[in-house]
Amino acid sequence: MTIIELFNQIDSVCLFCSKGLCYNYQVRDVAILIKTCGSNEYAEVLLNKLPNGVFLTTAFDGVVNTMVIGWGGINVIWGKPMMLILVRKVRATWDLIEKTNEFTISVPIKHDLSEALKICGTKSMREINDKFTYCHLTPVPGRKIKTPVVGECELHYECRVLYKQPLNQDNIPEAIKNRYYPTGANHTLYFGEIIDTYLFEDGE
Ligand SMILES: Cc1cc2nc3c(=O)[nH]c(=O)nc-3n(C[C@H](O)[C@H](O)[C@H](O)COP(=O)(O)O)c2cc1C
Repeated sequence: MTIIELFNQIDSVCLFCSKGLCYNYQVRDVAILIKTCGSNEYAEVLLNKLPNGVFLTTAFDGVVNTMVIGWGGINVIWGKPMMLILVRKVRATWDLIEKTNEFTISVPIKHDLSEALKICGTKSMREINDKFTYCHLTPVPGRKIKTPVVGECELHYECRVLYKQPLNQDNIPEAIKNRYYPTGANHTLYFGEIIDTYLFEDGE
């Protein structure tokens, strides 16, 4: 299924607000109002949610995929708000980020998405071809990049990769290496410049 076909499934209308910043979307049966916010405004919420996992979404050439990350966060690097993430090279997500150099992060705040987090955090796109459909998640088009966000989440970040590097295993303490890299499956560290941050709120 192409991204366009996926997006056509969403019953969406764009209604410009007075500031020209907000759109309304329909996610399942709920109208969603988008509220733009500062990249740091909800950094603490993101940090608190990370241990249980947040969604990292990638898309390329009609393929949309989401997985779960538990490590990362918001930093300031080169004077820019930067999302740091670590993705193991074995992930299907890694292949997609490498192709597009962009990704979104979606954070569930109010809604209980624990079942979807469990599936997206343990099953690869190589096993479940379309995790959005399988988990009843709605891909909502990104505002500034081509990658969608997870419609059922409230907090969203759109990010463009400015820097990436595989971790140098020689520089990792032995105890950590033994715990997190027993098979040698390395992480790539990505710096994603945060180019848009917004909240989905229930519309009227
Ligand atoms: C709570 C949680 C946190 C996770 N954090 C990461 C992470 O930071 N980096 C990573 O590469 N995988 C992480 N994973 C594992 C991936 O989400 C999982 O392997 C996923 O199935 C990969 O999907 P993909 O192959 O479709 O990309 C995490 C899983 C869970 C449950």
